[in-house]
Amino acid sequence: MAERENFDLAHISAVEILTPKFEESLWFFKDLLAMREVARIGDSAYLRCWDEYETYSIKLTASDTNGVGRTMLRATSPEALQRRVAAIEDTGYGEGWKDPEVGIGEYYEFEDPDEHLFGIYYDTELYQADEQDRPALKNQAARYPGRGVNARRLDHINYLASDVNVTGDFWDQVMKARETEQVELDAGGYAARWFRFAQKSYDVVYSDDWTGERGRFHHLAFATDTREDILKAADFFLEEGVYIEYGPYKHAINQTFFLYVWEPGGNRIEFANAGARLILNPDQPVVNWSEAERAKGQAWGMKTVPTFHTHGTPYVENQEEIDRAALEGRRV
Ligand SMILES: [Fe+2]
Repeated sequence: MAERENFDLAHISAVEILTPKFEESLWFFKDLLAMREVARIGDSAYLRCWDEYETYSIKLTASDTNGVGRTMLRATSPEALQRRVAAIEDTGYGEGWKDPEVGIGEYYEFEDPDEHLFGIYYDTELYQADEQDRPALKNQAARYPGRGVNARRLDHINYLASDVNVTGDFWDQVMKARETEQVELDAGGYAARWFRFAQKSYDVVYSDDWTGERGRFHHLAFATDTREDILKAADFFLEEGVYIEYGPYKHAINQTFFLYVWEPGGNRIEFANAGARLILNPDQPVVNWSEAERAKGQAWGMKTVPTFHTHGTPYVENQEEIDRAALEGRRV
């Protein structure tokens, strides 16, 4: 088996989402997903789901463009943090230690090889529910909202990358994430790679950016309790006029039941029933899918929506034309 130091990464956290339509995006996360706003600083709103132990999981920032800002990663211990920081420093991708932010202690900033920004930390602030948000059971962080999509927690993030191979190797060799599944190209190299931090089948994913741009974003996923919640979410988004791009359906890779929508700022958001599958085998081999296997479509045979390969944020100059052409079977 591959030599591993430890499970040094716990989970993704405090993802910054950039939006050119701040009020509409805030409506999406607060009113439709039932997230709670816990702070407002400058151009950013800090939001959390009901089953999250930390202060917040989304930093929604008003911006000229859409896309993803910094993604935070919580290390599993102070020692794990030091180990990963030392490994990052050896690569030259490190930016250095930064002062604490809302809810999060000192963190070390770095970029992956594709220029996505990250921070890694251990010290954190546990969410303290106020009277209005107090749960009935003491083993739950906040009150169960029971409305809208009722997003339970952040689950995983999928980035676009100009070079999936180099960026994937960084997560494998430097961050010590474990690769679960991959799509291999006939010409060599990979179209996409899935990595897990612990027993959940993936936390960070990289997919090939057909535009060749660096640092773009494919989607952020929230976990729901059940598959039924995802079907209801689709009905709910339909009523609210939110663009449903794909699903509800079941992925072939990692078998997640999914729904993809575009929030008003243009960023792709997924709802996934992710806890259904756990990787229990400590020596689990990487599952490799060929281009031909991938072309068969998702789990039950439906083909992947063409915009899945074109739509990313921040938008490239002719993004809307590229997406429209993809839906019409053309490639710009
Ligand atoms: Fe996903």
